[in-house]
Amino acid sequence: MTLEEAMRSRHSVRAYQARGIPGEIRERLDEMAETCSRTGNVHIRIRYDDPDGFDSRLARYGRFSGVRNYIVLAGREDADFSLRCGYYGEKLVLFAQQLGLNTCWVALTFNRKKVKSILEDGERLCMVIALGYGINGGVPHKGKTFQDVTEGEDGPEWFRAGVEAALLAPTAVNQQKFCFGYAQGEATLRIRGLGSCLRTDLGIVKYHFEAASGHPVRVV
Ligand SMILES: Cc1cc2nc3c(=O)[nH]c(=O)nc-3n(C[C@H](O)[C@H](O)[C@H](O)COP(=O)(O)O)c2cc1C
Repeated sequence: MTLEEAMRSRHSVRAYQARGIPGEIRERLDEMAETCSRTGNVHIRIRYDDPDGFDSRLARYGRFSGVRNYIVLAGREDADFSLRCGYYGEKLVLFAQQLGLNTCWVALTFNRKKVKSILEDGERLCMVIALGYGINGGVPHKGKTFQDVTEGEDGPEWFRAGVEAALLAPTAVNQQKFCFGYAQGEATLRIRGLGSCLRTDLGIVKYHFEAASGHPVRVV
């Protein structure tokens, strides 16, 4: 599966099969998590066969079921921490999709006390991502259009491809509160509007744009 196919077929999945993740798939995920941690200066751990992370009233309220694997995004906090968690977390999400797995970013509806207990001293928890074989592959979200999330010049074909890929990205409550601009050969990205998890969303969207367009986007 190409990265573009992974972006198109990825949807949030909240109900999972009991089927475990095979050893060779775990190895590949762990390797990617380690690479992302190193490059992104974040601490990404993957917890396998650990249903406690989603064993709470809040998780059930959040319609999660059968979650027994999850990705923990944590690290030392600085100005770009949430943005980097979004960027590298989504890189791992799309890699998991390519390996036939399903995911869902989760800011609220997990067992925070349990997840926090596995962090190192001084580490801050950004959020978690549920991981496993879904009961189904989820459904496409309804979303904004190219016009809704861009400003300035039209931009070349690579800019359009990047924005179209960004529109496929997950954002908290599907808020899509971002805006791309193009001027003098350069793409920019900024938050537009109010909401929660906006910096993490921005990192996620930045990854989609850059992976699809092959061009960097400057966050402003
Ligand atoms: C940063 C972030 C936080 C999220 N938090 C939650 C959450 O707490 N509970 C939940 O059920 N879904 C959560 N989601 C999933 C979004 O609701 C979902 O991505 C959005 O509705 C778009 O749907 P899609 O992922 O299927 O494209 C979160 C997504 C992101 C990106």
